[in-house]
Amino acid sequence: MRQLLVTGGAGFIGSNFVHHVVAHTDLSVTVLDHLGYAGHRESLAGLPEARVGLVVGDVADAELVDRLVAQADAVVHFAAESHNDNSLSDPSPFVTTNLVGTFTLLEAARRHDVRLHHISTDEVYGDLELDDPERFTESTPYNPSSPYSATKAGSDLLVRAWVRSFGVRATLSNCSNNYGPRQHVEKFIPRQVTNLLDGGRAKLYGRGLNVRDWIHADDHSSAVLEIVQHGRIGETYLVGADGERSNREVVELILTLMGLPSDAYDHVTDRAGHDLRYAIDSTKLRTELGWTPRYTDFEQGLAATIDWYRENEAWWRPQKEATEARYRELGHV
Ligand code: NAD
Ligand code: DAU
Repeated sequence: MRQLLVTGGAGFIGSNFVHHVVAHTDLSVTVLDHLGYAGHRESLAGLPEARVGLVVGDVADAELVDRLVAQADAVVHFAAESHNDNSLSDPSPFVTTNLVGTFTLLEAARRHDVRLHHISTDEVYGDLELDDPERFTESTPYNPSSPYSATKAGSDLLVRAWVRSFGVRATLSNCSNNYGPRQHVEKFIPRQVTNLLDGGRAKLYGRGLNVRDWIHADDHSSAVLEIVQHGRIGETYLVGADGERSNREVVELILTLMGLPSDAYDHVTDRAGHDLRYAIDSTKLRTELGWTPRYTDFEQGLAATIDWYRENEAWWRPQKEATEARYRELGHV
């Protein structure tokens, strides 16, 4: 394997993956990204031009995708509309990119017999009660709640069907909530950090009891690379780092790490249909492929992430005003 095609590689997790691949392998990468509101050319800055190229285009453009897949030894498919709140106000691009985009890639992978790894989310399994002793596993039934997670669930099922019906050489992974550098300021942690850097307040949806299972984006990247290189065709691997925290705990920790009173936040309008808790059991990935996370100290990883936003205002500033304007329209302020 020499050449990877990485869709959505100018987004948050995709760009972290490309940086990880360059640092830890000899592989070359072609990024396919339409540079929508969440994709940034700057997120690939500093990478060696001889090993990383960017093609600006749409993952649902069959002709372009066919040409790029034909040149690749493997495809890693991150491109998606990724934000639940956006999917509640306008589901349409979620259907086009997440479903039709995945279908387009699968057809190209089938024509050219190229291995494909599909990136998905733990949200396809719905949510758990706060006191449920069980966590999500590869055999948990699908039960998505939002238009975002429904389209991700649909895309997973397309991949599974193309493996079984057409022999496409694909693997899947479903990961929990990522944090780290280069995440769009619409997402929970960057929104709070940049609000506070701007002298504003942190914003907690509802009572803040919802639990997310946090993993550093670099740990997600090492898991994906392991699956691309050694995962079994047709298999799904759940990716998680045992990082369950309530939103309130995370906000309080951010405030403390930024030297502010831990109660300096507002409760704002809750998200419609808000999933209560996600939690991943990643035993299969750990035992079968020997993967372990490196960022096991959440507080340390969060502090480094806060520092990244403090030092990279030029990266996030252009997104901030439009994002907060959208949150004002949605009432989450
Ligand atoms: P993101 O929104 O930061 O990045 C998505 C990228 O895809 C952007 O660069 C965007 O420009 C690109 N893109 C969107 N539509 C496209 C299209 N039609 N054609 C080409 N490029 C397009 O999202 P992210 O948080 O980095 O998520 C990446 C993937 O990981 C998604 O598939 C998401 O479902 C999955 N995932 C995310 C998380 C998380 O916590 N953020 C957790 C598990 C899985
Ligand atoms: O679980 C994996 C999923 O994690 C991914 O599939 C999604 O792409 C990714 O966006 C993320 O989804 P969430 O909806 O969990 O992430 P978000 O950052 O939007 O919100 C995290 C939690 O914080 C959620 O319970 C809502 C809450 N929240 C969010 C924002 C933006 C707040 O309390 N305040 C906020 O301002």
